[in-house]
Amino acid sequence: MRLVRRIVEVRELVGEARRNGLRIGLVPTMGFLHEGHLSLVDRCRELSDLVVMSIFVNPLQFGPSEDLESYPRDMERDLALAEGRRVDLVFAPANEELYPEPPTAVVAPRRLADRLCGASRPGHFEGVLTVVAKLFGIVQPDVSVFGQKDFQQAVLIQRMVSDLNMAVRVEVAPTVREPDGLAMSSRNAYLSGDERARAVSISQALAWAVAAFRSGERDAGLLRSQIRVRLDAVGGVDVEYVEAVSARDLEPVSSAAADTVMAIAARIGSTRLIDNACLGNPDPGLAKLL
Ligand code: PAF
Repeated sequence: MRLVRRIVEVRELVGEARRNGLRIGLVPTMGFLHEGHLSLVDRCRELSDLVVMSIFVNPLQFGPSEDLESYPRDMERDLALAEGRRVDLVFAPANEELYPEPPTAVVAPRRLADRLCGASRPGHFEGVLTVVAKLFGIVQPDVSVFGQKDFQQAVLIQRMVSDLNMAVRVEVAPTVREPDGLAMSSRNAYLSGDERARAVSISQALAWAVAAFRSGERDAGLLRSQIRVRLDAVGGVDVEYVEAVSARDLEPVSSAAADTVMAIAARIGSTRLIDNACLGNPDPGLAKLL
């Protein structure tokens, strides 16, 4: 595995691989890797010959009162995990390498970014799209893999690629969960023992909604309100939103269907967690809870 920090080096190595006929795959991450990220690497390996992982905590996607400074980082551990999963090339630029000066041009979503997570994180998706567009520009991957846990992000990236005619296939891989159902996230590291115990209620509430849908419940309003009741009953779970939206265009739905995504954001202590489930096709980790 090669570790490179400069754009010119990535371009050189990836360019050579492409000239040799290899398909290039990219897994963008902010590091502090867990099994969720590594599952994206596995999927990327199935779809490409050279797997590039970027590790970069992107300041542009953090709001002024968010956790940019405290975001967990452990480069040594990340490199060992990436190597163990047969990543070929890690691109871990310094901030000055990607942003030598504040950007003049950014990628600003016009739609779909004002709801769900975007409602409480203004500018977040502009930061995400801008850095992903830059990474696509630098690596020029044939395929790039993102996680379903950040499904609004995945939808916006797919829309960006389509709107801007970028020549990359965007693949979305299922959420990976702890055995009790908690969706894996680098931010889980912030949780105390007691908070960790409460956090599992989020995936349990989603599993309940999937089970109710399977039993014939189609009233999205009822599913949402019942999820809230369940989360409120736990105590210490401060719900930001519970939404039922179409997987295609993130529009809220009143009647639940197989492609409805039930999405939750909640704060537990000072940690903001998100999770979601497609009612007709839940990820394997959630399906196990049913
Ligand atoms: O999902 C993430 O970790 C980040 O939002 C991403 C896609 C790596 C962009 O910084």
